[in-house]
This record gives sequence, structure tokens and C-alpha cells, in this order.
Amino acid sequence: MPIRPLSLPRVIGHRGAAEAAPENTLASFREAKRQGAHWVEFDAKLSADNRAFLLHDDNLDRTSNTTGPARARLYDEIRGLDAGSWKNPAFAGEKMPLLAEALSLFAQEDLRFNLELKPCPGRARETAKIILDELAHLWPAARPKPLVSSFVLECLEIARDQAPELPRGLLLEDHPANWLDLAQNLKTDTVNIWDGAATPEWVAEIKAEGFGLLVYTVNDASRAKQLIDWGVDGVFTDAPARILAAVGQ
Ligand code: G3P
Ligand code: MG
Repeated sequence: MPIRPLSLPRVIGHRGAAEAAPENTLASFREAKRQGAHWVEFDAKLSADNRAFLLHDDNLDRTSNTTGPARARLYDEIRGLDAGSWKNPAFAGEKMPLLAEALSLFAQEDLRFNLELKPCPGRARETAKIILDELAHLWPAARPKPLVSSFVLECLEIARDQAPELPRGLLLEDHPANWLDLAQNLKTDTVNIWDGAATPEWVAEIKAEGFGLLVYTVNDASRAKQLIDWGVDGVFTDAPARILAAVGQ
């Protein structure tokens, strides 16, 4: 049973507002706020020179104007890429922001956030250490704490040991038989599950164990309402306005 009472929102903007804006950019977070979201989720990793920045994939191909693995690039090179045009020419020139820039925006816009540690292959340890260190230095202690999550168990172990004061979320891709052992060993506050694996029985089980429960990625309003009716605390969505209209804050 987790010990921290967490206040969770019903709606978290996934990678910002990824349906309308290029994911994991400052424009996407501003759009999520404009659509009424109070919380956003984003993916953070390290460049070759250990700068913490925002990107979902291991490679640059899908969300920028170049190709190849992100882990091979210096941040100055990444900074020069266009992370907006792939989505819509109106977003031409949007950058993959540094974590520090995203944190400044969240403080300025009064946005709460879920930082997903999304290391490049083979870089789990330094990704968690450096990013948690940056958070400790850059995120004002007086502001509400972020939720830190990951699919990568090593990242969550480091979070548990290095930053025990930060709420943690165990991300799961499927429905592993040992989910409760994992969450208990990692002392997580929430379990964040895939929509395709969510059933009323599992939702009830997770809630009965006392965990916060978030589901990704839910873009259909009636499905979001159903999940909330089952007892899910909140959903990650690419379309915050649509889901807020269905389930409220
Ligand atoms: O944190 C929820 C969700 O973002 C996890 O999946 O692949 O979109 O990072 P993914
Ligand atoms: Mg994510």
C-alpha cells in the first residue's frame, strides 16, 4: 500500500496535446494548457553530451527533419532540427526543448507534470541520475512535486533511491502477473497501464491495493468515461479538450 496520498487529475495531456501540436514541444504544452489541461506528460532522455531533452522515440526519424539515433547526437545538433513541420507546417522551427526549458514553462504556466524517464537504449542509469539531479536543482521546492514514471525498472529503482520524495509511477505495457511485486518493490505511488490491457477486474485490484491508477493513451471520450466509471483516477490523452468535456478535471 503506497503511503503518500496523491491528488491525481482525470486528464493528463499526453506529450502535451499531441493530436493538435507536435508532441513533446513547448507549443504542445501551451496547447494542452489552452485546451484546459492542468497536467501534462512528456518523455525525457539524454543527448550524446548528456543534456536532458524531450523526445519519445529512440530515433529522430518520425518527429524531426532528419534520421538516426538520438543517442549519437550532441544537443547542439538536435537543437538545430525542426521538430514541428512533420506535424504541420504551421509549427515549422519548433525545437526539441531542453528539460530546463520545459520546467520553466510549467512553472510560468502553472502546469503540473508527469516526467517519463525514456532512456535511449543502454543509457538507463545515467539518464535517471542526471534527469533526477536536474529536477532537484531546477524545480522549485515550493511547487507541487511532479510524478516521475518509467517502463524501465532500473530508472525507477534509481528514482526510489535517489529522489524518494518524488511520487513515482510504474508504467506497464501489458498485464504482468508480478505487477504488484514490481510496484511494491519499487515503492511506486501509481500504476500506469495501457488502455488495451485495462479490465474492470484489474482496475478494481489495483485500486484495492491503494495505488493511484492512470491509463494511456485514451483519445475516445466514451472510453475515457467508462474507465473513470470503473475507478481509474485519470487518463493520458492526446486530445485534452475532448476528454475534459467528457469526464471533467
Ligand atoms: O506515460 C504514459 C505514456 O506516455 C506511455 O507510453 O510510449 O506514449 O511514452 P508512451
Ligand atoms: Mg510517454
